[in-house]
Amino acid sequence: MAASRTHRLGSGNQLPEIRTPLPGPRARRAARRLDAAEAPGINTLVDGATAMLWEEALGSNVLDIDGNRYIDLTAGFGVAAVGHRHPAVVAAVRGQADRLLHGLGDVFAHPARVELGERLGRLAPLREPRVHFAASGADAVEIALKTGRICSGRPGILAFTPAYHGTTLGALQGTSRPAFRSPFTEPLEHQVHRLPYGVEVDEVQQLLDRQPEIGTCLVEPVIGREATRWPPDGWLAGLAAACRARRVILAVDEIFTAFGRCGAWFVSAEAGIEPDLICCGKALGGGLPIAAVLGRKEVMAVWNTGGEARHTATFVAHPLACAAALATLEVIETGSLVERAVEMGRRFGRRVEPLRQVPGVVDVRGAAMLWAVELDGRERAADLSRHLLDRGVIALSGGAAGVVLQIAPPLVVTEAQLFHAADSLLRAASDLASKP
Ligand SMILES: Cc1ncc(COP(=O)(O)O)c(C=O)c1O
Repeated sequence: MAASRTHRLGSGNQLPEIRTPLPGPRARRAARRLDAAEAPGINTLVDGATAMLWEEALGSNVLDIDGNRYIDLTAGFGVAAVGHRHPAVVAAVRGQADRLLHGLGDVFAHPARVELGERLGRLAPLREPRVHFAASGADAVEIALKTGRICSGRPGILAFTPAYHGTTLGALQGTSRPAFRSPFTEPLEHQVHRLPYGVEVDEVQQLLDRQPEIGTCLVEPVIGREATRWPPDGWLAGLAAACRARRVILAVDEIFTAFGRCGAWFVSAEAGIEPDLICCGKALGGGLPIAAVLGRKEVMAVWNTGGEARHTATFVAHPLACAAALATLEVIETGSLVERAVEMGRRFGRRVEPLRQVPGVVDVRGAAMLWAVELDGRERAADLSRHLLDRGVIALSGGAAGVVLQIAPPLVVTEAQLFHAADSLLRAASDLASKP
Protein backbone atom coordinates (compact mmCIF):
# COMPACT_ATOMS: atom_id res chain seq x y z
CA MET A 1 0.00 0.00 0.00
CA ALA A 2 1.08 3.61 -0.56
CA ALA A 3 2.63 5.47 2.36
CA SER A 4 0.20 7.60 4.34
CA ARG A 5 0.57 11.37 4.17
CA THR A 6 1.24 11.54 7.86
CA HIS A 7 3.37 8.38 7.99
CA ARG A 8 1.45 7.55 11.15
CA LEU A 9 -0.62 4.94 9.39
CA GLY A 10 2.17 2.97 7.72
CA SER A 11 0.31 0.85 5.21
CA GLY A 12 -2.77 0.67 7.41
CA ASN A 13 -1.29 -2.23 9.37
CA GLN A 14 -0.44 -0.39 12.60
CA LEU A 15 -1.34 -1.07 16.22
CA PRO A 16 -3.17 1.64 18.19
CA GLU A 17 -1.50 4.67 19.72
CA ILE A 18 -3.62 6.90 21.94
CA ARG A 19 -1.98 10.25 22.75
CA THR A 20 -4.77 12.26 24.37
CA PRO A 21 -7.63 11.47 26.69
CA LEU A 22 -10.83 11.02 24.67
CA PRO A 23 -12.46 13.25 23.60
CA GLY A 24 -9.28 15.14 22.75
CA PRO A 25 -9.18 18.95 22.74
CA ARG A 26 -9.73 19.28 18.97
CA ALA A 27 -12.61 16.80 19.09
CA ARG A 28 -14.25 18.87 21.83
CA ARG A 29 -13.98 22.06 19.76
CA ALA A 30 -15.30 20.32 16.64
CA ALA A 31 -18.16 18.83 18.65
CA ARG A 32 -19.33 22.30 19.64
CA ARG A 33 -19.36 23.34 15.96
CA LEU A 34 -21.20 20.14 14.96
CA ASP A 35 -23.74 20.78 17.65
CA ALA A 36 -24.37 24.29 16.32
CA ALA A 37 -24.56 23.21 12.67
CA GLU A 38 -26.30 19.84 12.51
CA ALA A 39 -29.61 18.37 13.54
CA PRO A 40 -29.36 16.85 17.01
CA GLY A 41 -29.14 13.12 17.57
CA ILE A 42 -27.05 12.33 14.53
CA ASN A 43 -23.62 12.16 16.12
CA THR A 44 -22.90 9.93 19.09
CA LEU A 45 -21.84 11.98 22.06
CA VAL A 46 -19.59 11.02 24.95
CA ASP A 47 -19.52 13.46 27.86
CA GLY A 48 -21.27 15.99 25.64
CA ALA A 49 -18.73 15.73 22.84
CA THR A 50 -18.13 13.42 19.90
CA ALA A 51 -15.54 10.98 21.22
CA MET A 52 -13.35 11.62 18.21
CA LEU A 53 -13.46 12.70 14.58
CA TRP A 54 -11.92 10.63 11.83
CA GLU A 55 -9.34 12.66 9.96
CA GLU A 56 -7.57 9.97 7.98
CA ALA A 57 -7.87 6.24 7.49
CA LEU A 58 -5.86 3.60 5.69
CA GLY A 59 -6.21 -0.16 5.66
CA SER A 60 -7.48 -1.10 9.12
CA ASN A 61 -6.30 2.08 10.82
CA VAL A 62 -8.04 5.35 11.59
CA LEU A 63 -6.30 8.54 12.72
CA ASP A 64 -8.42 11.06 14.60
CA ILE A 65 -8.10 14.84 14.57
CA ASP A 66 -6.20 14.76 17.88
CA GLY A 67 -3.57 12.42 16.43
CA ASN A 68 -4.77 9.20 18.07
CA ARG A 69 -4.46 6.03 16.04
CA TYR A 70 -7.00 3.19 16.17
CA ILE A 71 -7.74 -0.23 14.75
CA ASP A 72 -11.16 -0.07 13.11
CA LEU A 73 -13.21 -3.16 13.99
CA THR A 74 -16.26 -1.70 12.22
CA ALA A 75 -14.74 -1.39 8.72
CA GLY A 76 -16.75 1.85 8.62
CA PHE A 77 -20.17 0.13 8.93
CA GLY A 78 -18.90 -2.79 6.87
CA VAL A 79 -17.87 -0.65 3.91
CA ALA A 80 -14.08 -0.92 4.06
CA ALA A 81 -13.83 -4.65 3.29
CA VAL A 82 -10.67 -4.04 1.26
CA GLY A 83 -9.51 -1.60 3.92
CA HIS A 84 -9.85 2.15 4.05
CA ARG A 85 -8.53 4.07 1.06
CA HIS A 86 -7.15 1.02 -0.71
CA PRO A 87 -4.55 2.30 -3.23
CA ALA A 88 -6.19 0.44 -6.13
CA VAL A 89 -9.55 2.00 -5.28
CA VAL A 90 -8.04 5.46 -4.92
CA ALA A 91 -6.20 5.07 -8.25
CA ALA A 92 -9.40 3.96 -10.00
CA VAL A 93 -11.32 6.92 -8.56
CA ARG A 94 -8.56 9.33 -9.62
CA GLY A 95 -8.50 7.87 -13.12
CA GLN A 96 -12.27 8.12 -13.42
CA ALA A 97 -12.28 11.68 -12.04
CA ASP A 98 -9.96 12.67 -14.87
CA ARG A 99 -12.54 11.46 -17.39
CA LEU A 100 -16.08 11.79 -16.06
CA LEU A 101 -17.15 12.89 -12.61
CA HIS A 102 -20.88 12.76 -13.05
CA GLY A 103 -23.11 11.41 -15.79
CA LEU A 104 -26.76 11.35 -16.63
CA GLY A 105 -27.94 8.51 -14.43
CA ASP A 106 -30.55 6.39 -16.15
CA VAL A 107 -30.52 8.29 -19.47
CA PHE A 108 -26.97 7.98 -20.84
CA ALA A 109 -24.79 5.35 -19.20
CA HIS A 110 -20.98 5.38 -18.99
CA PRO A 111 -18.38 2.67 -19.63
CA ALA A 112 -17.56 1.88 -15.97
CA ARG A 113 -21.24 1.19 -15.39
CA VAL A 114 -21.34 -1.25 -18.29
CA GLU A 115 -18.32 -3.08 -16.95
CA LEU A 116 -19.63 -3.19 -13.39
CA GLY A 117 -23.03 -4.48 -14.47
CA GLU A 118 -21.32 -7.32 -16.31
CA ARG A 119 -18.98 -8.09 -13.45
CA LEU A 120 -21.78 -8.20 -10.88
CA GLY A 121 -23.71 -10.42 -13.24
CA ARG A 122 -20.81 -12.89 -13.33
CA LEU A 123 -20.60 -12.89 -9.53
CA ALA A 124 -24.33 -13.14 -8.78
CA PRO A 125 -25.41 -16.62 -7.65
CA LEU A 126 -28.44 -16.41 -9.95
CA ARG A 127 -29.44 -17.80 -13.31
CA GLU A 128 -29.35 -15.10 -16.00
CA PRO A 129 -28.92 -12.26 -13.52
CA ARG A 130 -29.81 -8.66 -14.24
CA VAL A 131 -28.58 -5.68 -12.21
CA HIS A 132 -30.55 -2.65 -11.05
CA PHE A 133 -28.17 -0.07 -9.58
CA ALA A 134 -29.14 1.95 -6.51
CA ALA A 135 -27.85 5.06 -4.79
CA SER A 136 -27.73 3.54 -1.27
CA GLY A 137 -28.56 0.35 0.58
CA ALA A 138 -32.02 1.57 1.53
CA ASP A 139 -32.61 2.57 -2.10
CA ALA A 140 -31.72 -1.01 -3.13
CA VAL A 141 -34.24 -2.34 -0.60
CA GLU A 142 -36.87 0.01 -2.06
CA ILE A 143 -36.13 -1.40 -5.51
CA ALA A 144 -36.40 -4.97 -4.20
CA LEU A 145 -39.75 -4.25 -2.54
CA LYS A 146 -41.07 -2.53 -5.65
CA THR A 147 -39.86 -5.40 -7.83
CA GLY A 148 -41.63 -7.88 -5.56
CA ARG A 149 -44.79 -5.78 -5.60
CA ILE A 150 -45.00 -5.56 -9.39
CA CYS A 151 -43.80 -9.08 -10.07
CA SER A 152 -46.08 -10.87 -7.60
CA GLY A 153 -49.00 -8.50 -8.11
CA ARG A 154 -49.52 -8.63 -4.32
CA PRO A 155 -48.81 -5.78 -1.88
CA GLY A 156 -48.05 -7.77 1.31
CA ILE A 157 -44.52 -8.13 2.68
CA LEU A 158 -43.14 -10.74 5.06
CA ALA A 159 -40.35 -9.34 7.23
CA PHE A 160 -38.65 -10.52 10.40
CA THR A 161 -37.80 -9.28 13.87
CA PRO A 162 -35.11 -8.22 14.42
CA ALA A 163 -34.10 -6.80 11.06
CA TYR A 164 -32.49 -3.68 9.66
CA HIS A 165 -33.07 -2.67 6.06
CA GLY A 166 -32.67 1.13 6.15
CA THR A 167 -34.60 4.20 7.22
CA THR A 168 -36.04 5.91 4.12
CA LEU A 169 -39.63 7.09 4.45
CA GLY A 170 -41.58 8.11 1.41
CA ALA A 171 -40.40 10.53 -1.28
CA LEU A 172 -42.71 8.69 -3.65
CA GLN A 173 -45.74 9.73 -1.62
CA GLY A 174 -45.00 13.33 -2.57
CA THR A 175 -44.20 12.57 -6.21
CA SER A 176 -47.28 13.13 -8.36
CA ARG A 177 -46.91 11.30 -11.66
CA PRO A 178 -48.98 8.10 -11.72
CA ALA A 179 -46.33 6.29 -13.80
CA PHE A 180 -43.95 6.59 -10.83
CA ARG A 181 -46.55 6.06 -8.10
CA SER A 182 -48.47 3.12 -9.49
CA PRO A 183 -48.74 0.40 -8.18
CA PHE A 184 -47.05 1.55 -4.97
CA THR A 185 -49.83 3.65 -3.47
CA GLU A 186 -51.05 1.34 -0.68
CA PRO A 187 -49.82 2.46 2.76
CA LEU A 188 -46.91 0.09 3.32
CA GLU A 189 -47.00 -0.10 7.11
CA HIS A 190 -50.24 -2.13 7.05
CA GLN A 191 -48.89 -4.51 4.44
CA VAL A 192 -45.97 -5.75 6.54
CA HIS A 193 -46.37 -9.03 8.40
CA ARG A 194 -43.66 -9.89 10.88
CA LEU A 195 -42.36 -13.16 12.27
CA PRO A 196 -39.47 -13.79 14.64
CA TYR A 197 -36.20 -14.36 12.77
CA GLY A 198 -35.40 -18.06 12.64
CA VAL A 199 -39.00 -19.09 13.43
CA GLU A 200 -40.03 -22.66 12.48
CA VAL A 201 -40.56 -22.86 8.72
CA ASP A 202 -43.99 -24.39 9.43
CA GLU A 203 -45.04 -21.07 10.93
CA VAL A 204 -43.82 -19.23 7.85
CA GLN A 205 -45.85 -21.55 5.66
CA GLN A 206 -48.96 -21.07 7.82
CA LEU A 207 -48.65 -17.29 7.68
CA LEU A 208 -48.15 -17.27 3.91
CA ASP A 209 -51.23 -19.49 3.53
CA ARG A 210 -53.31 -17.34 5.89
CA GLN A 211 -52.24 -14.10 4.22
CA PRO A 212 -52.23 -14.76 0.47
CA GLU A 213 -51.74 -11.03 -0.18
CA ILE A 214 -48.08 -11.45 0.83
CA GLY A 215 -46.08 -11.25 -2.39
CA THR A 216 -42.57 -10.48 -1.15
CA CYS A 217 -40.36 -11.86 1.61
CA LEU A 218 -37.51 -9.60 2.74
CA VAL A 219 -34.81 -11.24 4.86
CA GLU A 220 -31.24 -10.80 6.01
CA PRO A 221 -29.26 -14.04 5.57
CA VAL A 222 -27.43 -13.15 8.80
CA ILE A 223 -28.86 -10.45 11.06
CA GLY A 224 -26.36 -7.60 10.94
CA ARG A 225 -26.91 -4.38 12.80
CA GLU A 226 -29.83 -5.50 14.97
CA ALA A 227 -28.31 -8.63 16.54
CA THR A 228 -25.32 -10.10 14.67
CA ARG A 229 -27.04 -13.45 14.71
CA TRP A 230 -27.11 -16.44 12.36
CA PRO A 231 -30.27 -18.36 11.44
CA PRO A 232 -30.65 -22.04 12.36
CA ASP A 233 -29.01 -24.45 9.89
CA GLY A 234 -31.20 -24.97 6.85
CA TRP A 235 -33.58 -22.14 7.76
CA LEU A 236 -32.89 -20.04 4.67
CA ALA A 237 -33.39 -23.08 2.43
CA GLY A 238 -36.72 -23.81 4.15
CA LEU A 239 -37.78 -20.20 3.79
CA ALA A 240 -36.80 -20.17 0.12
CA ALA A 241 -38.81 -23.35 -0.53
CA ALA A 242 -41.87 -21.96 1.29
CA CYS A 243 -41.70 -18.78 -0.80
CA ARG A 244 -41.08 -20.56 -4.08
CA ALA A 245 -44.08 -22.89 -3.53
CA ARG A 246 -46.36 -19.85 -3.13
CA ARG A 247 -44.79 -17.64 -5.78
CA VAL A 248 -43.65 -15.21 -3.11
CA ILE A 249 -40.66 -13.18 -4.31
CA LEU A 250 -37.68 -13.85 -2.04
CA ALA A 251 -35.52 -10.75 -1.59
CA VAL A 252 -32.35 -11.44 0.37
CA ASP A 253 -30.73 -8.36 1.86
CA GLU A 254 -26.98 -8.98 1.59
CA ILE A 255 -26.06 -5.34 1.92
CA PHE A 256 -24.00 -6.10 5.01
CA THR A 257 -23.09 -9.75 4.40
CA ALA A 258 -21.93 -9.93 0.76
CA PHE A 259 -18.40 -9.77 -0.63
CA GLY A 260 -16.60 -11.85 1.98
CA ARG A 261 -17.76 -10.48 5.32
CA CYS A 262 -19.38 -13.83 6.21
CA GLY A 263 -16.86 -16.00 4.40
CA ALA A 264 -18.58 -16.16 1.01
CA TRP A 265 -19.15 -13.79 -1.88
CA PHE A 266 -22.86 -14.19 -1.13
CA VAL A 267 -24.32 -15.97 1.90
CA SER A 268 -27.28 -16.98 -0.30
CA ALA A 269 -25.00 -19.18 -2.41
CA GLU A 270 -23.37 -20.65 0.70
CA ALA A 271 -26.83 -21.50 2.06
CA GLY A 272 -27.65 -23.27 -1.21
CA ILE A 273 -30.52 -20.98 -2.18
CA GLU A 274 -31.23 -19.02 -5.32
CA PRO A 275 -33.28 -15.98 -4.29
CA ASP A 276 -35.29 -13.94 -6.75
CA LEU A 277 -33.50 -10.79 -5.65
CA ILE A 278 -30.27 -10.00 -3.78
CA CYS A 279 -29.57 -6.52 -2.43
CA CYS A 280 -25.93 -5.54 -2.03
CA GLY A 281 -24.05 -2.36 -1.23
CA LYS A 282 -21.65 -1.21 1.51
CA ALA A 283 -18.40 -3.10 0.68
CA LEU A 284 -19.17 -2.95 -3.04
CA GLY A 285 -18.03 0.66 -3.44
CA GLY A 286 -14.80 0.32 -1.45
CA GLY A 287 -15.75 3.57 0.33
CA LEU A 288 -17.90 5.26 -2.30
CA PRO A 289 -21.68 5.11 -2.15
CA ILE A 290 -23.16 2.53 -4.48
CA ALA A 291 -25.60 -0.34 -4.12
CA ALA A 292 -27.39 -2.73 -6.41
CA VAL A 293 -30.15 -5.27 -6.67
CA LEU A 294 -29.26 -8.45 -8.50
CA GLY A 295 -32.30 -10.27 -9.78
CA ARG A 296 -33.32 -13.17 -11.93
CA LYS A 297 -33.96 -12.06 -15.50
CA GLU A 298 -37.65 -12.90 -15.57
CA VAL A 299 -38.23 -11.05 -12.28
CA MET A 300 -36.29 -7.97 -13.36
CA ALA A 301 -38.30 -7.89 -16.60
CA VAL A 302 -40.96 -5.97 -14.66
CA TRP A 303 -38.84 -2.84 -15.01
CA ASN A 304 -39.22 -2.83 -18.78
CA THR A 305 -41.36 0.27 -19.24
CA GLY A 306 -40.17 0.98 -22.76
CA GLY A 307 -39.76 4.60 -21.70
CA GLU A 308 -38.45 6.55 -18.74
CA ALA A 309 -37.03 4.63 -15.78
CA ARG A 310 -39.69 3.97 -13.18
CA HIS A 311 -37.27 3.98 -10.25
CA THR A 312 -34.15 6.09 -10.36
CA ALA A 313 -31.94 8.57 -8.52
CA THR A 314 -29.79 11.47 -9.65
CA PHE A 315 -26.57 9.78 -8.55
CA VAL A 316 -27.44 6.20 -9.49
CA ALA A 317 -24.42 4.22 -10.74
CA HIS A 318 -22.21 7.24 -10.15
CA PRO A 319 -19.06 7.06 -12.32
CA LEU A 320 -16.64 7.41 -9.40
CA ALA A 321 -18.49 4.76 -7.41
CA CYS A 322 -18.62 2.35 -10.36
CA ALA A 323 -14.86 2.74 -10.90
CA ALA A 324 -14.27 2.22 -7.17
CA ALA A 325 -16.49 -0.86 -7.18
CA LEU A 326 -14.67 -2.44 -10.12
CA ALA A 327 -11.34 -1.93 -8.32
CA THR A 328 -12.81 -3.26 -5.06
CA LEU A 329 -14.10 -6.47 -6.63
CA GLU A 330 -10.74 -6.98 -8.31
CA VAL A 331 -8.90 -6.57 -4.98
CA ILE A 332 -11.24 -9.02 -3.23
CA GLU A 333 -10.79 -11.57 -6.00
CA THR A 334 -7.05 -11.29 -6.63
CA GLY A 335 -6.27 -10.99 -2.93
CA SER A 336 -8.42 -14.08 -2.14
CA LEU A 337 -9.96 -11.95 0.61
CA VAL A 338 -13.03 -14.17 0.97
CA GLU A 339 -10.88 -17.20 1.79
CA ARG A 340 -8.66 -15.03 3.97
CA ALA A 341 -11.71 -13.85 5.94
CA VAL A 342 -12.59 -17.45 6.76
CA GLU A 343 -9.08 -18.26 8.00
CA MET A 344 -8.68 -15.04 10.00
CA GLY A 345 -12.08 -15.65 11.54
CA ARG A 346 -10.94 -19.06 12.77
CA ARG A 347 -7.84 -17.57 14.36
CA PHE A 348 -9.82 -14.74 15.94
CA GLY A 349 -12.36 -17.21 17.31
CA ARG A 350 -9.61 -19.23 19.01
CA ARG A 351 -8.01 -16.10 20.45
CA VAL A 352 -11.26 -14.80 22.02
CA GLU A 353 -12.30 -18.21 23.38
CA PRO A 354 -11.42 -17.19 27.01
CA LEU A 355 -13.98 -14.35 26.73
CA ARG A 356 -16.73 -16.92 27.28
CA GLN A 357 -15.54 -17.35 30.87
CA VAL A 358 -15.65 -13.63 31.70
CA PRO A 359 -18.58 -12.67 33.95
CA GLY A 360 -21.09 -10.51 32.11
CA VAL A 361 -20.34 -12.12 28.74
CA VAL A 362 -23.41 -14.05 27.63
CA ASP A 363 -22.27 -15.26 24.23
CA VAL A 364 -19.42 -15.03 21.76
CA ARG A 365 -20.42 -15.98 18.23
CA GLY A 366 -19.20 -15.43 14.74
CA ALA A 367 -17.50 -16.61 11.61
CA ALA A 368 -15.13 -15.13 9.08
CA MET A 369 -14.92 -11.37 9.66
CA LEU A 370 -18.20 -10.95 11.54
CA TRP A 371 -18.32 -11.56 15.28
CA ALA A 372 -20.53 -10.61 18.20
CA VAL A 373 -19.87 -10.44 21.90
CA GLU A 374 -23.19 -10.40 23.71
CA LEU A 375 -23.21 -8.84 27.18
CA ASP A 376 -25.69 -9.14 30.02
CA GLY A 377 -26.85 -5.54 29.72
CA ARG A 378 -26.94 -2.45 27.54
CA GLU A 379 -24.75 -0.47 29.92
CA ARG A 380 -22.04 -3.12 30.06
CA ALA A 381 -21.99 -3.31 26.26
CA ALA A 382 -21.67 0.48 25.96
CA ASP A 383 -18.95 0.49 28.66
CA LEU A 384 -17.04 -2.20 26.82
CA SER A 385 -17.17 -0.22 23.58
CA ARG A 386 -15.97 2.89 25.44
CA HIS A 387 -13.13 1.01 27.18
CA LEU A 388 -12.00 -0.36 23.85
CA LEU A 389 -12.01 3.09 22.28
CA ASP A 390 -9.80 4.34 25.10
CA ARG A 391 -7.42 1.50 24.17
CA GLY A 392 -7.52 2.49 20.49
CA VAL A 393 -9.93 -0.17 19.26
CA ILE A 394 -13.12 0.94 17.52
CA ALA A 395 -16.01 -1.51 18.00
CA LEU A 396 -19.60 -0.41 18.33
CA SER A 397 -22.14 -1.72 20.79
CA GLY A 398 -25.72 -1.86 19.66
CA GLY A 399 -28.36 -4.11 18.22
CA ALA A 400 -32.06 -3.92 18.98
CA ALA A 401 -31.44 -4.57 22.68
CA GLY A 402 -28.16 -2.67 22.78
CA VAL A 403 -26.30 -5.64 24.31
CA VAL A 404 -24.12 -6.71 21.40
CA LEU A 405 -20.61 -5.57 20.63
CA GLN A 406 -20.09 -6.14 16.93
CA ILE A 407 -16.72 -6.95 15.42
CA ALA A 408 -16.52 -6.50 11.65
CA PRO A 409 -12.97 -5.55 10.68
CA PRO A 410 -11.67 -4.91 7.18
CA LEU A 411 -10.98 -8.25 5.47
CA VAL A 412 -7.36 -7.13 5.11
CA VAL A 413 -6.80 -6.71 8.86
CA THR A 414 -3.43 -8.17 9.83
CA GLU A 415 -3.11 -11.01 12.29
CA ALA A 416 -1.15 -8.75 14.65
CA GLN A 417 -3.94 -6.16 14.59
CA LEU A 418 -6.64 -8.77 15.06
CA PHE A 419 -4.86 -10.43 17.97
CA HIS A 420 -4.12 -7.06 19.55
CA ALA A 421 -7.82 -6.20 19.30
CA ALA A 422 -8.81 -9.61 20.72
CA ASP A 423 -6.44 -9.18 23.66
CA SER A 424 -7.73 -5.64 24.29
CA LEU A 425 -11.25 -7.03 24.24
CA LEU A 426 -10.34 -9.66 26.82
CA ARG A 427 -8.64 -7.13 29.08
CA ALA A 428 -11.45 -4.58 28.79
CA ALA A 429 -14.16 -7.17 29.47
CA SER A 430 -12.23 -8.56 32.45
CA ASP A 431 -11.65 -5.05 33.88
CA LEU A 432 -15.38 -4.34 33.58
CA ALA A 433 -16.28 -7.66 35.19
CA SER A 434 -14.16 -6.89 38.25
CA LYS A 435 -15.85 -3.50 38.70
CA PRO A 436 -18.58 -3.53 41.37
C1 LIG B 1 -28.72 -5.35 6.00
C2 LIG B 1 -28.81 -3.87 5.66
N1 LIG B 1 -29.72 -3.46 4.77
C3 LIG B 1 -29.84 -2.17 4.44
C4 LIG B 1 -29.04 -1.20 5.02
C5 LIG B 1 -29.21 0.24 4.63
O1 LIG B 1 -28.15 0.65 3.85
P1 LIG B 1 -27.80 2.21 3.72
O2 LIG B 1 -27.39 2.68 5.06
O3 LIG B 1 -26.70 2.27 2.69
O4 LIG B 1 -29.05 2.88 3.24
C6 LIG B 1 -28.08 -1.59 5.95
C7 LIG B 1 -27.23 -0.59 6.60
O5 LIG B 1 -26.65 -0.81 7.64
C8 LIG B 1 -27.96 -2.96 6.29
O6 LIG B 1 -27.06 -3.39 7.19
